[in-house]
Amino acid sequence: MSKKRVLSGIQTTGNLHLGNYLGAIRNWVDIQQDYDNFFFFADLHAITVPHDAKTLAENTLKMAAVYLASGIDLNCSTIFVQSHVSAHSELAWLLNCVTPLNWLERMIQFKEKAVKQGENVGVGLLDYPVLMAADILLYDADRVPVGEDQKQHLELTRDIAARVNDQFGKQKPVLKVPEPMIREEGARIMSLTDGSKKMSKSDPSELSRIELLDSAEAIKRKIKKCKTDPIKGLTFDDPERPECNNLLTLYQILGNKTKVEVAAECQDMGWGQFKPLLTATTIEALQPIQHKYHELMNNRDYLDSVLREGASKASAVANQTLTRVKDALGFLPPL
Ligand code: TYM
Repeated sequence: MSKKRVLSGIQTTGNLHLGNYLGAIRNWVDIQQDYDNFFFFADLHAITVPHDAKTLAENTLKMAAVYLASGIDLNCSTIFVQSHVSAHSELAWLLNCVTPLNWLERMIQFKEKAVKQGENVGVGLLDYPVLMAADILLYDADRVPVGEDQKQHLELTRDIAARVNDQFGKQKPVLKVPEPMIREEGARIMSLTDGSKKMSKSDPSELSRIELLDSAEAIKRKIKKCKTDPIKGLTFDDPERPECNNLLTLYQILGNKTKVEVAAECQDMGWGQFKPLLTATTIEALQPIQHKYHELMNNRDYLDSVLREGASKASAVANQTLTRVKDALGFLPPL
């Protein structure tokens, strides 16, 4: 039996942080051997908010090095740049024409990000989830491993696929309806400066997040300054102590421990004892990735060749689906 297909991606905006790593990449690495995987760099999504043309290409390349350094295995996973596969933009247009506007206006991320853009909010930001649906549906993905914040976008993707099937696939479904894959642990890593907000690339304070490429010094400084509480004894799942829950979760996942082990180890600890432990664990977990990352960034030819091959493999799959959708919608095939 052939393996089920997995697809996921990350926007190429700014540096990746522990939320992206623990909510997404690390899970991809853990499951990849059991699936046929497509992981991509969402550079078309990165321009839905004002972007810097001078850094877009470099950010994409850096992200390719991060995926590989984190353990993405090219024997079972294809990695590629979204804008290198033109079918993404084309399917997004076709799906735009079947997606009701009010489905998009309901999206929480749109509402949150639109507030920040004010009068200048672009159409692309509203349309962002349709492009995301195109990303997923082009590959007939069975599963989409993401963090908790993408759940609503995946529901929308399912709704769009069902609508296309309902309108144009009465005999045979046109699009495969994918399942979200959200792991409980790490699905929602919170800000270091406010345990009620998720860790995010767009938070103006660098102290709110640990980036994958942060130096040992920076990690130490950020953990030292992170928000805690005056209570001695550290526990998971206390709604009054979101920071405590978040920091214990980081310690648990980065240290490859179980929740029960960490709960027992930390129950009598104070912050003065815990913070150095978390610092050492974080540095130890990130150092091998950083080392590999720098090696890869010094080998531009290799990265180029991986991305060239990835685009070719991805295009082959995506173009087939695009043709299937255009046929179902009734277009005249190219003559
Ligand atoms: P993006 O770039 O915001 O985030 C990439 C991945 O990281 C996860 N994530 C988190 N997980 C846990 N805690 C956090 N604080 C945290 N912050 C981010 C996200 O859930 C995501 O899995 N729209 C997507 C990119 C995308 C995509 C796709 C994903 C475009 N097309 C198709 C899957 C399939 C996004 O902006 O993710």
